[in-house]
Amino acid sequence: MVNDPSGNPRGLRSDPPGYPRELESDVALRDGTLVRIRAILPEDAPRLVAAYDRLSAQSAYQRFFAVMRRLPPDWARFHATVDYRQRLALIAERGVEQEMELLAVARYEPSDDDAPEIALAILDAWQNRGLGTALLRALLAAGQARGIRKFRAWVLADNTRMLDLIHRHGEIERRRREGAAVELIFTPRSPVTAPPAPTPRSA
Ligand SMILES: CC(C)(COP(=O)(O)OP(=O)(O)OC[C@H]1O[C@@H](n2cnc3c(N)ncnc32)[C@H](O)[C@@H]1OP(=O)(O)O)[C@@H](O)C(=O)NCCC(=O)NCCS
Repeated sequence: MVNDPSGNPRGLRSDPPGYPRELESDVALRDGTLVRIRAILPEDAPRLVAAYDRLSAQSAYQRFFAVMRRLPPDWARFHATVDYRQRLALIAERGVEQEMELLAVARYEPSDDDAPEIALAILDAWQNRGLGTALLRALLAAGQARGIRKFRAWVLADNTRMLDLIHRHGEIERRRREGAAVELIFTPRSPVTAPPAPTPRSA
């Protein structure tokens, strides 16, 4: 293990400004498997490209409403570089030290009004084991700790698993069909507890 004077347990470079270390946790899936959830880091970008390669065409379509041959590296860089407040992404990973396998990503991004848009993607082999539920809960809790009250999701109308997941965790305020997709605006259903968001560092 690399000894990192910053105390970073990953033994990698130091955390970027505002990195919410408090969002790091180990969660047990339904079958007892432990996975690590943490906020994304810019250095995760190549792992997003690799994870996209392993996503089935159906899952990729459900997530992006399109199937790309590869996740463009500049998209991956954009998706891996967030400010941890207005834009946040959590990843789930498993493995040892620097060989951690990225299993899933959950994120919110600012959208037109005050309801940031959430999106999740779980690698197919890791779906239906409770990971989507754990990540959605962690994401909503982190958003609420950052002052976000409402979230938005665009979900394909036949994606019952994602629609059910949102209905279980959100009080739906608005539901609107547009073509093949449904837009949902919702508030998290139960009070969620998360450590307070860090105060942003002054530039
Ligand atoms: C949708 C998605 C995020 C859900 O994550 P997940 O880890 O598979 O979900 P979970 O294991 O937490 O299960 C959620 C619930 O769906 C249920 N479920 C599982 N498979 C299902 C299916 N085919 N249809 C309907 N419900 C299903 C599970 O039983 C579970 O309910 P329970 O908690 O009452 O048992 C994940 O499947 C995924 O990444 N899909 C592809 C991309 C996508 O659709 N993204 C959403 C874009 S907004």
